[in-house]
Amino acid sequence: MRQIWITKAGPPEVLQVKDAPDPEPKAGEVRIRVEASGINFADILGRIGIYPDLPSIPCVPGYEVAGRVEALGQGVDTGWAGRDVFALTRFGAYADVICVPLAQVFERPGGMSAGEAAAIPVNYFTAWQLCVVMGALKRGETALIHSVGGGVGIAATQIAKHIGATVIGTASAAKHAEMRAHGVDHLIDYRTEDFEARTREITKGRGVELILDPVGGASWKKGYRVLAPTGRLGVFGISAAASGKERSIAGMLSMLAGTPWLQFNPLALMNANKGVFGVNLGHMWGEGERLRGWGAELLDLWRHGVIKPKIAATFRFDEAAQAHHFIQDRKNIGKVLLVP
Ligand SMILES: NC(=O)c1ccc[n+]([C@@H]2O[C@H](COP(=O)([O-])OP(=O)(O)OC[C@H]3O[C@@H](n4cnc5c(N)ncnc54)[C@H](OP(=O)(O)O)[C@@H]3O)[C@@H](O)[C@H]2O)c1
Repeated sequence: MRQIWITKAGPPEVLQVKDAPDPEPKAGEVRIRVEASGINFADILGRIGIYPDLPSIPCVPGYEVAGRVEALGQGVDTGWAGRDVFALTRFGAYADVICVPLAQVFERPGGMSAGEAAAIPVNYFTAWQLCVVMGALKRGETALIHSVGGGVGIAATQIAKHIGATVIGTASAAKHAEMRAHGVDHLIDYRTEDFEARTREITKGRGVELILDPVGGASWKKGYRVLAPTGRLGVFGISAAASGKERSIAGMLSMLAGTPWLQFNPLALMNANKGVFGVNLGHMWGEGERLRGWGAELLDLWRHGVIKPKIAATFRFDEAAQAHHFIQDRKNIGKVLLVP
């Protein structure tokens, strides 16, 4: 098999394709011949060397694949042989073959391409947990979605619009026209505008009921201030720490210095009628049954045309460095995929 390794912490060029013998599925696992792997921002944080969950470098990153089951481990129902599937993987997804526990594997409905399927697990499960499971977004409420042009942002927009919420999104200016066409009601170029002031202006001073914030640091502080009574702030990333293409202690410290360590204390939350919650899909491995339930609901929405992954670009394995540059240069609108 071929895998893409993070050979050392550093710029995108540290990603290298290497050959290895095909793995054998263990009991309860299936081996998938991969047709597409999803790239996530966490892979970039891992490559830079600031993602604590990543196995020690050198390693093969990647949280999701789509492809076809080509071998079964002991105890797996033979009906799985040859099925088109997608899967959540605990790293190792930047590969053309991978063995995955069956609990993390989902059958692909007919008509769903491998590219679309590889774009579902991380982005849509995360957006579902944020908007529906923990954010409890309701019709008539307003959601502020940061990085709205990214994979999670577009997934969350589709879910929020389906619920009947108004969506305010932050994104680099070049993405605004396309994101408007995707249903975002109001767009803010947070790199040139103050998103807190603009959100107040858009909501006529009221604020928003839900915020999805993967930026971190001072962004959380401003977001908390702009929550309406009963508002919920969902924190789920620290992209502000990736200030460049290599690890920057200054970038990390600036993110940590801006973090509102004391603002979210229980008394403040109680008296302001506000909530703060965290989401890390990569720490949900023990919740397999729940994830299966979310997967079933999401696939139902896909069948009804409510959700539709948007693929920004597809890169070959030997172009993995370009793929990471593409995301870090803020060019993607939607999901970036790797194909063997
Ligand atoms: N906790 C979880 O379970 C979980 C799961 C999935 C993703 N996440 C987090 O959610 C965020 C978005 O992930 P994604 O996979 O949807 O992203 P993505 O598709 O890779 O999009 C990345 C976008 O983030 C924006 N961005 C913000 N700060 C950036 C920075 N410092 N460097 C480069 N781009 C930056 C850029 O868009 P603009 O320039 O338009 O803002 C960029 O195009 C990331 O922080 C990620 O770690 C968390």
